Amino acid sequence: MPSTALRPEIQRFTDELIDKMLAGPKPVDLVTALSLPLPSLMICALLGVPYDDHDFFQENASFATRSDKTAEDDRRANEALGGYLAALLQAKMENPGDDVLSDFAARIKDGDLTLPEATLLSMILLIAGHETSANMITLGTALLLENPEQPARLREIDDTKAVAGAVEEILRYLTVAQFGQRRIAKEDFEFEGVRIEAGDGIVVPLPAGNWDPTAFPEPEKLDLDRKASHHHAFGWGIHQCLGQQLARIELQVVCGTLYRRIPTLRLAVDREELAFRPADSLAFGIMELPVTW
Ligand code: HEM
Repeated sequence: MPSTALRPEIQRFTDELIDKMLAGPKPVDLVTALSLPLPSLMICALLGVPYDDHDFFQENASFATRSDKTAEDDRRANEALGGYLAALLQAKMENPGDDVLSDFAARIKDGDLTLPEATLLSMILLIAGHETSANMITLGTALLLENPEQPARLREIDDTKAVAGAVEEILRYLTVAQFGQRRIAKEDFEFEGVRIEAGDGIVVPLPAGNWDPTAFPEPEKLDLDRKASHHHAFGWGIHQCLGQQLARIELQVVCGTLYRRIPTLRLAVDREELAFRPADSLAFGIMELPVTW
């Protein structure tokens, strides 16, 4: 299914979550009200994982990107998630649906995949499918609410393409995959006067590339009209992010909806009170974002 076909469903989930926010008491933590449930609902629908189990898998998935974990936390979370997904795959071998896990289950039956391989693939997709997108929605909202002229600009834009352009700039500016991607050189080469030999390890820092003034003049300036689609927030090359189109549409729908539906949305605490994830977390993020309107 092309990612654009998911837009109506993403819009429906976003509207329902905002309806719920508006109907409840204020202030609201945007992470629990919107940033986490929206990508979780979408990845569950795509994979065929019951969303009712979200407390269980969100808690265990969070260890993948947390820096304050022990090796024991990691082992326990991996085992719990692995066991859960292996059982789901086995169930789908008996009763398939129209989802990715059922497709994996059919491939296990055909001998193309083993159960441990399919379990690992499902785990990567489930974790990657909601953690980074949730961080981007939260941080992107905090960034825009700190610069009130920016949500106003988004409300003015009545053009999906322009909202999509704004999202590329927010992705560039924040680059939540904050540490470098690791690669191994396949051949000898020289880069900016540095000799790299085949077999050398290379760390490619995505934030540095996305704030390179030769590629993005005045990179520290958030400019929603900037042409920023050549950023590397989703990595580069054959291992670049598999879910980038889904993530883009989720962000486009949130940016095109949230400020229109709640024009007076604002932070409910001072910026200094926001609790950021530990600086060495794999994905940069905010733990809670209290907002009001
Ligand atoms: C805003 C949200 C997201 C950001 C910023 C992000 C960022 C990234 C980055 C930087 C990489 C590494 C690329 C590289 O090494 O060159 C990556 C890989 C990956 N992402 Fe995402 N991602 C996001 C959302 C998602 C979603 C929604 C999914 C799943 C549906 C997903 C699935 C994956 C997978 C499976 C890989 C590994 C690809 C491979 O190694 O071949 N990501 N992502």
